[in-house]
Amino acid sequence: MSPIVEVTEVYKRFGTVSVLEGVSFQVRPGSVVAIIGRSGSGKSTALRCINRLETIDAGQIRVCGHDVTSPKLDVNRLHRDVGIVFQSYNLFPHLTAEENVLLAPRLVLKLPRSEQRELAAHVLAQVDLADKAQAYPSQLSGGQQQRVAIARSLAMKPSLMLFDEITSALDPELTGEVLKVIEGLAQGGMSMILVTHEMAFARKVADHVIYMHRGKVWEEGPAEMLAAPRTQELAQFLGTELRPAKAAAVVHQPAVVHQP
Ligand SMILES: Nc1ncnc2c1ncn2[C@@H]1O[C@H](COP(=O)(O)OP(=O)(O)O)[C@@H](O)[C@H]1O
Ligand SMILES: [Mg+2]
Repeated sequence: MSPIVEVTEVYKRFGTVSVLEGVSFQVRPGSVVAIIGRSGSGKSTALRCINRLETIDAGQIRVCGHDVTSPKLDVNRLHRDVGIVFQSYNLFPHLTAEENVLLAPRLVLKLPRSEQRELAAHVLAQVDLADKAQAYPSQLSGGQQQRVAIARSLAMKPSLMLFDEITSALDPELTGEVLKVIEGLAQGGMSMILVTHEMAFARKVADHVIYMHRGKVWEEGPAEMLAAPRTQELAQFLGTELRPAKAAAVVHQPAVVHQP
């Protein structure tokens, strides 16, 4: 099966600041890729480039059959195929959960009323909020609001979901319920890229982990690589000791290691 995301030698700068320096990676359909790394390493920018919220300076990005770098790209179609959820959930306060969820599908998918109801019920159930359809954001906890935001993305029936540190603004006791929803989506076969600082979660749900450092894919491999970092930088980031690379090579598939 061909990859659902192909990022090839992507460069991106903001003014004089070089943020992505030859980033390449792929996502297979149905797989969960976790991007980890220090603040400022380019994780959010990489996600935003995939969804064409930023343009790139060089390289190529193909996503769900779209050539994201082509001037002929249909951005609306891309945004239908690729959902993105941020740390800030930005629900409309004067609309119920159901109305928030249906806003985009009403405009874009032009569904009949009966099907709208069904769709809202379906995606709210997916995020475990079937009973909150008529609640307003102010009546929901942060974790519940973030789950409505996820449902809002799911309502467009995307082929790929991007999550950018979606639990960072939540209290620890609300983080678990949001991560559980993501885990459910992963089990349901949704392709996704998640930028996260929840290492235990990355280890549990990710098929593939990408460690970004200074705008580069510094190290990548199966989630087991988090137990055996091969570069000093990843070891430091994880707060663990660098283990001998040969131990990792015996147990795990070879990880791609950036040679600084
Ligand atoms: N719109 C922007 N304009 C200028 N600089 C930006 C912009 N977005 C991000 N940056 C810079 O790019 C670098 C990488 O940012 P980001 O991709 O947000 O990193 P991360 O998500 O890994 O913390 C940072 O130095 C940040 O200040
Ligand atoms: Mg970020």
